[in-house]
Amino acid sequence: MGSNLARNLASREGNTVAVYNRSRAKTDELLAAHPEAGFVPSFTYEEFAASLSVPRTAVIMVKAGAGTDAVIDELLTVFEPGDIIVDGGNALFTDTIRREKAVRSTGINFVGMGVSGGEEGALLGPSLMPGGSDEAWVTLGPILTSIAAVAEGEPCVTHVGHDGAGHFVKMVHNGIEYADMQLIAEAYDLIRRGTGKTPAEIADVFAQWNDGELDSYLIEITAEVLRQQDAATGTPLVDVIVDQAGAKGTGGWTVQTAIDLGVPVSGIAEAVFARSLSSHPEQRAVASDLPGPADELQVDGVDAFIEDVRLALFASKIVAYSQGFDEIRAGAAQYGWSIDLGAVAKIWRGGCIIRAQFLNRISDAYAEQPDLQVLLTAPYFVSALERAQDAWRRIVATAAAAGIPSPAFSSSLAYYDGLRADRLPAALIQGQRDFFGAHTYRRIDREGTFHTLWSGDRSEVAAEDTH
Ligand SMILES: NC(=O)c1ccc[n+]([C@@H]2O[C@H](COP(=O)([O-])OP(=O)(O)OC[C@H]3O[C@@H](n4cnc5c(N)ncnc54)[C@H](OP(=O)(O)O)[C@@H]3O)[C@@H](O)[C@H]2O)c1
Repeated sequence: MGSNLARNLASREGNTVAVYNRSRAKTDELLAAHPEAGFVPSFTYEEFAASLSVPRTAVIMVKAGAGTDAVIDELLTVFEPGDIIVDGGNALFTDTIRREKAVRSTGINFVGMGVSGGEEGALLGPSLMPGGSDEAWVTLGPILTSIAAVAEGEPCVTHVGHDGAGHFVKMVHNGIEYADMQLIAEAYDLIRRGTGKTPAEIADVFAQWNDGELDSYLIEITAEVLRQQDAATGTPLVDVIVDQAGAKGTGGWTVQTAIDLGVPVSGIAEAVFARSLSSHPEQRAVASDLPGPADELQVDGVDAFIEDVRLALFASKIVAYSQGFDEIRAGAAQYGWSIDLGAVAKIWRGGCIIRAQFLNRISDAYAEQPDLQVLLTAPYFVSALERAQDAWRRIVATAAAAGIPSPAFSSSLAYYDGLRADRLPAALIQGQRDFFGAHTYRRIDREGTFHTLWSGDRSEVAAEDTH
């Protein structure tokens, strides 16, 4: 990632890029492989700092964690007040808040920056999510704008907010990516098991979907992966790949943070847990004989079924994005960041893994109503959900009846129904909590907090709110 980002920077008019890696051989390799970049190599931090013009700007691209702290510590010994240290790794936003505070005390600027787009994005134009101070943004803005992806004429970079805001938004981006990928995988599984189509035939379905409202990078690469034949066996590649999905942790962080903030990101959580379930072969082996439905799924109208799956995917995707933006809104409120949600949607339109046409609809929604409480209640999404909901229900019901796991489809639908319910069984939960723990409850018909004397005469008394 670091070498590609450096090559991207070097390829822009007027830039000269200094490079440093703790392993000298890596630096030598990079210089030998890319003489056209005109890199200035350094083999010590002193040399690196001396080669930069002031204010110095360094972009760290190392494995997030202790490595980031180690490199920051080294840079602090050679940088001066007013210089800028950017961490482009996938740092946990709370680490970024901590680092920003510590570095700021030296007069040096620290910017945590989310970078999305994988290695190709880093080279050709990533989506960039910098946090940090306004002062740092003055210097960094033009540099980052020059290397970011461009979507519909606009650079995919914005100053997201102060200290950890950029890494927070990148974390949620990755959480949404997990949900999007899981939903696509569920759609593939249902079509395969319901229609008997081959992966190559399903690739055609995804390629066709990519011409419509689902148009996105992830749908596009799904078609590519499904079409790929394995050279060794002559069978579809997807059939020889072990069905255990890995994870680097940012999806889990999104869910853990959402739990702390009290934001239901059930679609993202199901996607994270679906990967965990897949990666326990020992548990799956002992459970494989558990009873399931007698009949396999057999679909009558193949085209109608595929259209239902498409609509279920679109509706569930709306839920995943709505939940993700809800988490960003809650994070901004909690940490005091002023985050323009419409601008975030815009910088995800290019360069990054979740780039999609659909993000224009999200930025439109926030442009029309900046204080939108729930993204999926914006008019465009309401009409999309109205169009999709019958199909969505049919698909979730069909999957359940056929014993085909569709955790993200079904949890997204449950979230949608929970959100729109006039009354939830949470009232009963409050009653249970009051019964066993005297946790109290509020009433619909008058102000105050109450407790029923369950082990006494069961009369109701006014009480202190204990949640
Ligand atoms: N891969 C992606 O698609 C992607 C996308 C967005 C963000 N990121 C983030 O970008 C960062 C770099 O990713 P990557 O894929 O390029 O990782 P990588 O290939 O594992 O590169 C790791 C780099 O970190 C250096 N490093 C590791 N520990 C270090 C330490 N203690 N002190 C100094 N340097 C250390 C390594 O140096 P040596 O060469 O000497 O080992 C190497 O240059 C990560 O934080 C990653 O999460 C990656």
